[in-house]
Amino acid sequence: MSENSVRLTVEKLVYGGYGLARENNKVFLVRYSAPKEFVEAEILEEKRDYTEAQVKKVIIPSPHRREAPCPYFGSCGGCQLQHLDYETQVSQKNDILRETLSRIGRIANPPLQDPIRSDLEFGYRVRVQFKVKNQKVGFFRLGEKELVEIEECPLAHPRINALIPHLKEVAQRIRELQEIHVFYSPKEDKFLVRFITPIETDRSLLEKVKDDFLPKDVVGVGDYSRLRLILTKRYWIGTEYLFVDAGGFTYRVSGDSFFQVNYSLWDRFIQEVVKGVSFRKAVDLHCGVGFFTLPLAKVGNFIEGSDSNPSAVNDATYNAKVNQVDNAVFVKADAYRHLKSRGGEVLDLVLLDPPRSGLGDKERDLLLQNKPERIIYVSCNPSTLARDLKVFLKGGYTLERVRLIDMFPQTYHIESVSVLRVDR
Ligand SMILES: C[S@@+](CC[C@H](N)C(=O)[O-])C[C@H]1O[C@@H](n2cnc3c(N)ncnc32)[C@H](O)[C@@H]1O
Repeated sequence: MSENSVRLTVEKLVYGGYGLARENNKVFLVRYSAPKEFVEAEILEEKRDYTEAQVKKVIIPSPHRREAPCPYFGSCGGCQLQHLDYETQVSQKNDILRETLSRIGRIANPPLQDPIRSDLEFGYRVRVQFKVKNQKVGFFRLGEKELVEIEECPLAHPRINALIPHLKEVAQRIRELQEIHVFYSPKEDKFLVRFITPIETDRSLLEKVKDDFLPKDVVGVGDYSRLRLILTKRYWIGTEYLFVDAGGFTYRVSGDSFFQVNYSLWDRFIQEVVKGVSFRKAVDLHCGVGFFTLPLAKVGNFIEGSDSNPSAVNDATYNAKVNQVDNAVFVKADAYRHLKSRGGEVLDLVLLDPPRSGLGDKERDLLLQNKPERIIYVSCNPSTLARDLKVFLKGGYTLERVRLIDMFPQTYHIESVSVLRVDR
């Protein structure tokens, strides 16, 4: 054993996909390890509260360990859990959700229901963001800007994988290409592609790329810049949106609008949010293109959807019309501003589906002032969910149920639906 190695027994997985181990009063977070196994781990970095390490040799393996199906697993930073069988991935995520709600949310016995497994363990993603560096296409290593070039990604829909050789061609032609975002519609069998570069790509070059190097089913391409997390469109060529079917509705989704990535769970996700719901007036504060708003409109009197992204709101408004939903309206608004403008109204239901950062302090305060009878909280981050739930419970709400829905197999990401109720 080298000086930089340590032998550890892994207790359990924690959020981020790491195995937690303790040795000599030190906490280790071990990449690519499994609960209950004994490993030799290489120390990567000593941090203030813990040491980051990576499995070098598995001495006593977990019975749930498997050969990762993807050849890039361990070098590509996209997946953290491929070395575990799928059942274990889901049960570990459920344990992490329970533990986070107890520890951060101070919820003694979170009312967790049986997790919803993904119908597809692989090939489920219809949106993929590829990185490009030195004209090579792939993904970044975990926590690094170093590119791992790939031929295919087992998480991506097979039609997206079939597009990769074409994207590699394009990467040879567009100078300083940084990212390629692909959105695929299984309904239409068509693609939209966004190219992100630091300097504008000549429009005639992008037209040529679209016509000569991409298949005809790439119906729209866009030229974008990125400043930190903010993408800005410079121009677009061709069709700007695709249609997809989910939960009995048809949704128009523009290249700039959010849409859930795991198509095998679209119907199930909608069912989980809508089940048992009825209302006179509801608000969907992060409505996107109306993914939950339209199905909710069918079970209530009137719903207002809002989103800070104008592209999503335009799509949602259009979607209400084509699906003949006439009791839903949409406004472009920040969640806080929207809640503030509805200050005195009696709301029966508020649906929340915020980004990973969860809700802001002021948003939580306004919700507690308004006190909708029911809050449905769709979350992609158990830590911010637990923080926010703690405030709602203190404010008089009861947590009726929480359910994991595994939208992101092979990765550490934890999506869930929580339902809260208060007596008014
Ligand atoms: C996780 S997506 C969910 C969208 C939709 N519920 C769905 O399932 O398709 C989050 C949405 O919140 C929007 N958003 C982010 N920050 C926001 C804010 N402060 N106020 C309102 N909407 C916001 C984004 O534009 C995005 O459409």
